[in-house]
Amino acid sequence: MAITPETGVFLSHSPTDAVAVFDSGVGGLTVLWALQKALPHEHFVYWGDTANAPYGDRSETEIRSLTQAAADHLLCERRCKALVLACNTATAAAAQSLRRRFSNTPVVGMEPAVRPALAAVSGTVLVLGTAATLRSDRFRALVPPCERERVIPLPAPGMVPLIEAGKADGPDMDRYLRQLTRGLPRPFAVVLGCTHFPLARASLTRVFGDVPFFDGTNGTVGQTARVLQRQNLLNPAPSGGFVTLTATSPAGRARLYSLYCAH
Ligand code: DGL
Repeated sequence: MAITPETGVFLSHSPTDAVAVFDSGVGGLTVLWALQKALPHEHFVYWGDTANAPYGDRSETEIRSLTQAAADHLLCERRCKALVLACNTATAAAAQSLRRRFSNTPVVGMEPAVRPALAAVSGTVLVLGTAATLRSDRFRALVPPCERERVIPLPAPGMVPLIEAGKADGPDMDRYLRQLTRGLPRPFAVVLGCTHFPLARASLTRVFGDVPFFDGTNGTVGQTARVLQRQNLLNPAPSGGFVTLTATSPAGRARLYSLYCAH
């Protein structure tokens, strides 16, 4: 590994190295599952920073430094060949600085699927996300000025703690979502702007009814496949890849394993 102020951290990669998938907690599993389906020959190292979740209520500086610490570990010590930020919040705060730091390593981010939702419906689009994502410059840049009136950003700070506590689907989540959306007109589409939220799909459907849901998973998976191919980093092995699951707290580890195994 070479580190210079001009190039950042320059790492050598092999196609047989694993792809790192990072989230503040268990939410990035929704991206990991899609990555495994699309890229079955790849090995994956999943990293959930459950000891520090939720990220969404933290400052941008804190989120950036937590994400950078995880990225340093995954890329420099675990020798992963690419980093997927399976977290809208970490992407908004840290993707740019990580790309500067790891100049020759693919860093793929995740963003709320606002544009596909706007293109699909003619009415209002409700965007559920963390407070940090929804106040970020990156989120503002996603909404074309002429469409601002149609986009309703709604921070949902209670969802991630419930999901991390194993209550993604059930009366607690239903109650929280009903309270959160009380008085809001029914949207034409709902964007799930946090990778945890698809885990609450059953509760979301009970509360919002038959509206289309959009998330950024497919975009991130497609971009991961493209950058690996472009940099000749796709694993040529004919066999299936393996996955290593890690979380930074014992309770988070238990939740991560049980969700992964139940899928
Ligand atoms: N899963 C993360 C995201 O996509 C954030 C959850 C959190 O607040 O930690 O934004």
